[in-house]
Amino acid sequence: MRVITLVDNMCGTPYVQSRMVKRLDSPNKQFMGEQGFSVMVETDAGQKVLFDAGASEAALLNNLRAVGAEPKDFSAVFISHGHYDHVGGLLPFIEAGVPIHTHPRTFVGKRFSTGGESKVDISPPDHVTSALAKAKMSFNSTPVEIVPGVRTSGEVPRVTDFEPTLNFLREEEGRTIEDMVMDEQALFLTQKRGVIVITGCSHPGIVNIVTHAKKSTGSKILMVMGGFHLGGGSQDRIRKTMDHLKNLGVDRIAPLHCTGFEAMKNISDRFVGFELMPAGSEIEL
Ligand SMILES: [Fe+2]
Ligand SMILES: [Fe+2]
Repeated sequence: MRVITLVDNMCGTPYVQSRMVKRLDSPNKQFMGEQGFSVMVETDAGQKVLFDAGASEAALLNNLRAVGAEPKDFSAVFISHGHYDHVGGLLPFIEAGVPIHTHPRTFVGKRFSTGGESKVDISPPDHVTSALAKAKMSFNSTPVEIVPGVRTSGEVPRVTDFEPTLNFLREEEGRTIEDMVMDEQALFLTQKRGVIVITGCSHPGIVNIVTHAKKSTGSKILMVMGGFHLGGGSQDRIRKTMDHLKNLGVDRIAPLHCTGFEAMKNISDRFVGFELMPAGSEIEL
């Protein structure tokens, strides 16, 4: 199974490679970075699944070209949750007729973040939501096998007491409600040796996600990659998160997107299996 970071907040570190991670950048194959996330999964049978669609078509299409792929090559798209930075580049996949899997509430209402100084609209762009009517949508809140070896988590049970989902609102049918981002699901790549967990922003909590992965698959965790949403997280939360991930048997770990510098530093200090995987990184598992 091949996993490539297509779009991420980081890009352009071509010569830093590890034993496991290959960089696909070259002087004439530049990847674009943005506040967004997208990953390409290619199964051993050669089926491609897109995990999230970044924030813009510009970055996603440029980076797809850099890996020699285009939307029509994909068997499916999985959208982790309905924030702009995970769905912004979706239109070319809708137009190519690629089936899209997501939670029933991903595209419901307007979405806002209140974590900064003001309320910020982080909804999917209008040109994407208005194209959904012609998309091949598959809505599920329970686990689904998208292609053999690639399954969704279903809604993630929130069991920890240190991973609250804070600072999000949803405007729906004229009222504003606190948004626990219950639509966020992860992807589990199941292999004989164990499971690879890919997360978008980890709004349900990365420990909750990995706990659920282990419980629901009954497998060892081979790798965890994605956004862990610990930017601005307290030292206490970061420490507890690291301790729990260690206890869950996590070693190979690629923190990306919204993980935050402080947490990334902690992860690189504490996990021998830390991998730096900016846009244009490929790992074979
Ligand atoms: Fe995000
Ligand atoms: Fe998000």
